[in-house]
Amino acid sequence: MRLFIDTAIVDHIREINDWGVLEGVTTNPSLACKANRNYRECVAEIAGIVDGPISAEAVSLEAPGMIAEARELAAIAANVNVKIPMCPEGLKAISALSKEGIETNCTLIFSANQALLASSAGATFVSPFLGRLDDIGNDGLRVLAEIVEIYEYYAVETQVISASLRHVQHVVGSALAGADIATIPYDVFKAMARHPLTDIGIERFLADWEKIKDL
Ligand code: E4P
Repeated sequence: MRLFIDTAIVDHIREINDWGVLEGVTTNPSLACKANRNYRECVAEIAGIVDGPISAEAVSLEAPGMIAEARELAAIAANVNVKIPMCPEGLKAISALSKEGIETNCTLIFSANQALLASSAGATFVSPFLGRLDDIGNDGLRVLAEIVEIYEYYAVETQVISASLRHVQHVVGSALAGADIATIPYDVFKAMARHPLTDIGIERFLADWEKIKDL
């Protein structure tokens, strides 16, 4: 499973990218709002930091507007793909963009049926939102597992990005379910690296080293 970061904050992207684990970035208007800067400039900077796919989101509600926005966003850099929301207009846009060779990430996926429609329309990626499903009492990991199983059964090329991840167990669960990619918030990346036994272990090794270092 490839690891993407789910943020538009460039300092966070640089920090995790320096770990050597990052293969892509996803952004959306809410994440861009947290970064509080010009969206296109921000996407261009991110595309220069990380080599892998960078998702930038279109905000039009009708297919012609989505397509026009997608062309502009995809022109920012060769590794930029365009997030299009799951809806009939979005499907029309995804279908047209796939014929033009513009990569799309069908976002706001909450069911296997929506994922089936997105892949049939030609989406490069689909993003099921696990956390938001859990928030309303559904099981995000189960929906993810259904999508992965169906895509494997029919050898669908669309890649599954496990999104809206809230905690480290979502990451492990996504890997066990066979997601192609997990897009992970900065704080969850930090939590993945931590374990109290690691901290205790480092402390003990250092304490023992102090006792023998001058022998
Ligand atoms: C992914 O592409 C989405 O931008 C993101 O994961 C949504 O997460 P949220 O439900 O925490 O807003």
